[in-house]
Amino acid sequence: MLKTGFVGYRGMVGSVLMKRMVEEDDFKGFEKIFFSTSQAGKSDVIAGGMSTGIIENAENIDKLKAMDVIVTCQGGSYTEKVYPQLLASGWKGYWIDAASTLRMKDDAIIILDPVNRNVINDALAKGIKCYVGGNCTVSLMLMGIGPLFQNNLVEWLSTMTYQASSGAGAQNMKELLTQMAALGSSAGNMIYDPASAILEVDRLVTEKMRSSDFPVENFKVPLAGSVIPWIDSAYENGQTKEEWKGVAETNKILMTKKQIPIDGICVRIGAMRCHSQGITIKLTKDVPIKDIYDMIAAGNEWVKVVPNEMDVTKKELTPAAVSGTLTIPVGRIRKMNIGNEYLTLYTVGDQLLWGAAEPVRRMLNIVREHLGK
Ligand code: HSE
Repeated sequence: MLKTGFVGYRGMVGSVLMKRMVEEDDFKGFEKIFFSTSQAGKSDVIAGGMSTGIIENAENIDKLKAMDVIVTCQGGSYTEKVYPQLLASGWKGYWIDAASTLRMKDDAIIILDPVNRNVINDALAKGIKCYVGGNCTVSLMLMGIGPLFQNNLVEWLSTMTYQASSGAGAQNMKELLTQMAALGSSAGNMIYDPASAILEVDRLVTEKMRSSDFPVENFKVPLAGSVIPWIDSAYENGQTKEEWKGVAETNKILMTKKQIPIDGICVRIGAMRCHSQGITIKLTKDVPIKDIYDMIAAGNEWVKVVPNEMDVTKKELTPAAVSGTLTIPVGRIRKMNIGNEYLTLYTVGDQLLWGAAEPVRRMLNIVREHLGK
């Protein structure tokens, strides 16, 4: 029986993965072994009341070596430390990873099977064993508009993102809420009084946001009541690493022969777990808008084209509507007044599902299918 090891199943992405696997009844027909860097020797209960059995040490190479497949949501430092040791030990199993560490390696494939199943199939046939989930913003963009790339319609693309706190981590999500709570209480009952002076409310809120006791340990600056136009580290060319991933990973996922230019500004906003992005595309030719709608709608079973109308857009094209679901709405689709070859649209997706856990969950099933187990 196929032996599959799960590392980092207790963290935020790992927990979403476990929940999804239980929902889809994925834990059938293979031997599962849970690994942890802190809980070895204990047992744990995961989603659906399932027991982990005795948890193994996630740094024990001999135990890991016995796995046919390892699925890790443990994070980049773990991958950096353990994966080379496993390879050096002669391990020939499949490594499925949610962290970014190995994404750009030549012998690693970035997985997003509704978009690049052909790339994944070719890699499996060639014996490639390393499969890595993509950057959330990139995966969510491609889940929304993959067909525009596949039909060679994208000459270049610019994306301006509105990224949720979950992308920064679980503690950041909590900090967003503590910031919101601090702002909410800073003007006392005045916020409930329609007759109170709004400029006084604003003064108190701004004063709170700038005060030394405002909770900013994780974000370092206020996010609630503000936005942060910087995500991840700096690149020498002025981009952030998150912005660089847009061009590097999109082209790698699609295995484009000639790089499609992609750039934009990645911004953190006060949403919980859904990333949104406003996208501008220079089309390679003038395509009727109706054809664009149809192409996007046919991309995959989760994408949902939202008509460019006020009520439905406000209702369906938001983090509030999408959070916790696999739906990828794409809306505000229209030709820009700049010219008929310029398209604009807006899309939203759950950062923890399609942006992280779901491609990993599906890849495990694809590997099992490939191995006939
Ligand atoms: N880098 C992303 C973000 C999350 O900060 O939102 C991981 O893909």
